[in-house]
Amino acid sequence: MLRKLLIGTMLAGGLVAGYSATTYAAGGSVEVLHWWTSGGEAAALDVLKKKLESQGITWKDMPVAGGGGEQAMTTLRARVTAGDPPTAVQALGYDITDWAKQGVVGDLSDVANKEGWDKVIPGALQNFAKYDGKWIAAPVNVHSTNWLWINKKDLDAAGGKAPESWDELIAVLDKMKANGIIPIVGGGNAWNAATMFDSVVLSLGTDFYKASMVDLDPAALSGDKMVEAFTRLSKLRSYVDDNFSGREWNLDSAMVIEGKAGMQIMGDWAKGEFVHAKKKPGEDFVCIRFPGTQGAVTFNSDMFMMFKVGEDKKAAQLQMASDIMSPDFQSSFNVVKGSVPARTDVPDTAFDACGKKGIKDLAEANEKGTLFGSMSQGYASPAAIKNAMYDVITREYNGDIDPKEAAKELAAAVAAAKG
Ligand code: BGC
Repeated sequence: MLRKLLIGTMLAGGLVAGYSATTYAAGGSVEVLHWWTSGGEAAALDVLKKKLESQGITWKDMPVAGGGGEQAMTTLRARVTAGDPPTAVQALGYDITDWAKQGVVGDLSDVANKEGWDKVIPGALQNFAKYDGKWIAAPVNVHSTNWLWINKKDLDAAGGKAPESWDELIAVLDKMKANGIIPIVGGGNAWNAATMFDSVVLSLGTDFYKASMVDLDPAALSGDKMVEAFTRLSKLRSYVDDNFSGREWNLDSAMVIEGKAGMQIMGDWAKGEFVHAKKKPGEDFVCIRFPGTQGAVTFNSDMFMMFKVGEDKKAAQLQMASDIMSPDFQSSFNVVKGSVPARTDVPDTAFDACGKKGIKDLAEANEKGTLFGSMSQGYASPAAIKNAMYDVITREYNGDIDPKEAAKELAAAVAAAKG
């Protein structure tokens, strides 16, 4: 994969050799359900909307706010039950498989085969974009959650060295506190705290992340390392301001952008906010892997899952799928979104330093076997298990239970959710 990426970067003009676009429609409309409502997200969505509009396709917007898409999935359920699903729906990991099991999704295999998606989409993504051998979703990007976003001025005031280990992180947080700023923001809702937890668990080892979050091994879920993970999460919480509860991730990002807060642990959709605020990596902010997780990646990929629609809507739906998978679109969209292309053959030329790092890290982790599905974004386990974890994590983050109790409860909640 890395080799392919390097070849990709050498191609001029953003064009990918051997790729040819298909035209399915010049008109019609698509109704798109998504949760991209923050400033950076809306700007990225606009790239897709404009592309379709330039082909004469009308965009009917159906935004349902809420990171992770839980609310969007609830809205979708109502529409599917009423027999009137949208054309395309932003969805993640195991949620996609769950909808496919219900027999309500369409089949993109014709367009996928014609355009050779099999060859350019990594297997880790195909596991979710395909069901029963058929392509059912078009992957628009790859995000990852184990990032730390730091305000550059605040970091400089705290000694200027980005932390590389847990102890260095705590030292920087202490300095930021002494400097009178909020050292770290996050955890305002269950999804947000769970996103932080991905990084904390991964920082205790890739084997531990896999055993606990992916394999759901009861011993890993309840053991000493899990107690340590919760202890670290509580430690981070101790540096967060008192008004954190209920605050959305993008408002956390805004606090880091403004320098009121020093840092945020968040997926690289946070970079979309920095870019939207015209901030530059290396000058205004610093992007690093969460200390202790260097070399590993917890990923999620936004996919547009296509539903079974009437004949009148099919051509526009296939056009949308084809557009999403075009190399130029994957570059221009992801530059704005903060994510990296889902295709492995897209040049990294248009990306900033964080984007280039994201592309490289992903390729390397994939090669080394240190690429894991993100628990918080529904790529490590099905929704029932993910939600059971969310509940325990957020109660511990809020101080309702201590780390020891949390580890015990996590194992019990997962066992119950497994049924
Ligand atoms: C999605 C991102 C989105 C984020 C916050 C994640 O689950 O994958 O695309 O920006 O939620 O809304």
